[in-house]
Amino acid sequence: MIALATTLRARVEKLKGLILSGGRGTRLRPITHTSAKQLVPVANKPVLFYGIEAMAAAGIEEVGIIIAPETGDEIREAAGDGSRFGIKIEYIVQDDPLGLAHAVLTAEPFLGDSSFVMYLGDNLLQGGIDQLVDEFRTGGRDAMILLTEVEDPENYGVAELGPDGGIIRLVEKPSDPQSNLALVGVYMFTSQIHAAAKAIEPSPRGELEITDAIQYIVDGGGRVEPHIVEGWWKDTGRLDDMLEANRLILGALTPRVEGELIDSQVEGPVVIEPGAKLERATVRGPAIIGSGTHLIDCYVGPYSAIAEDCVIERAEIEHSILLSGSIVRDMPGRMESSLLGRNVIVTQDDRQPRAYRLMLGDNSSVGLP
Ligand code: DAU
Repeated sequence: MIALATTLRARVEKLKGLILSGGRGTRLRPITHTSAKQLVPVANKPVLFYGIEAMAAAGIEEVGIIIAPETGDEIREAAGDGSRFGIKIEYIVQDDPLGLAHAVLTAEPFLGDSSFVMYLGDNLLQGGIDQLVDEFRTGGRDAMILLTEVEDPENYGVAELGPDGGIIRLVEKPSDPQSNLALVGVYMFTSQIHAAAKAIEPSPRGELEITDAIQYIVDGGGRVEPHIVEGWWKDTGRLDDMLEANRLILGALTPRVEGELIDSQVEGPVVIEPGAKLERATVRGPAIIGSGTHLIDCYVGPYSAIAEDCVIERAEIEHSILLSGSIVRDMPGRMESSLLGRNVIVTQDDRQPRAYRLMLGDNSSVGLP
């Protein structure tokens, strides 16, 4: 019996990776007017890099990255040929964001007949994918999907499971969800998914949905195995989710102070990168301060990630993400739960201590009331 089971379960030998970093990023505008949402940093590292690192850690050596014509160059420049991650990266341009299943079809020449792990470039999954990939490699499945309970299932692909735990139905962003189990943006497929993606029709939102392609495999009697994820998962496509992902990653920070501190204090888990300079500043962790950043007479509070070459002077910031080159100066008010793009300048015109919540695109300059 055991011998029979072993022969039926042919091991998956060829396994590639596909990361989806195209799309329009409409929910993170104005940040994503000028740059790719997958490059917005979480704890000072682009979201996309977490996915690439998860692939590398799972032993996947060849990864294709789907890019959009508008933001593709920026992604190519950031991730390069993959050598810094110990993998080989190939870029695949998807001319229009016509859906996740359309992205798979666009990648067909790269994927060939390989099985593959697909990872949405704006997703973050605690604990990586090593174990799941190992399980998928043992063979015998047509696809594996990951699920997690959410409070707002109508915003995701939703799975309805039967009493035996098998999939009954998968529906993309249903108005009347039959469960609170959302599809997490990590999937494992055999090459069967190409035929399924070709067989389905665009959804009401005009996209070829991967959810429908997986349903097509289920309907054809294929074995699609659902896994409930144990750790946390975040789709960073919206500001609050991005800040929450930042909070969760910073929560596990290993402290390291390598910059220069002059009459300054750091409390709790804090990373001060080399080349950062603090003068009469207080940083209360978890927080990370990028290299070349200058903090003067200021307070940076918990769950803040300040990228490289920023200046914060006579200001208070908490629970916020600042991209590189931003300047916050002369703000008696406190900036909270904010996201500033690259090279943003923020000042406050009057002297009133108010709280501000901001989301500002690259190169904006704001004098707050
Ligand atoms: O985050 C999980 C959800 O991701 C799932 O629950 C849904 O079933 C799945 O459809 C997907 O929904 P979203 O609406 O959040 O997908 P989004 O448009 O944000 O795209 C996800 C990633 O894929 C993002 O990095 C952009 C990229 N993308 C998207 C489309 C539509 C592409 O590369 N090409 C595309 O055509």
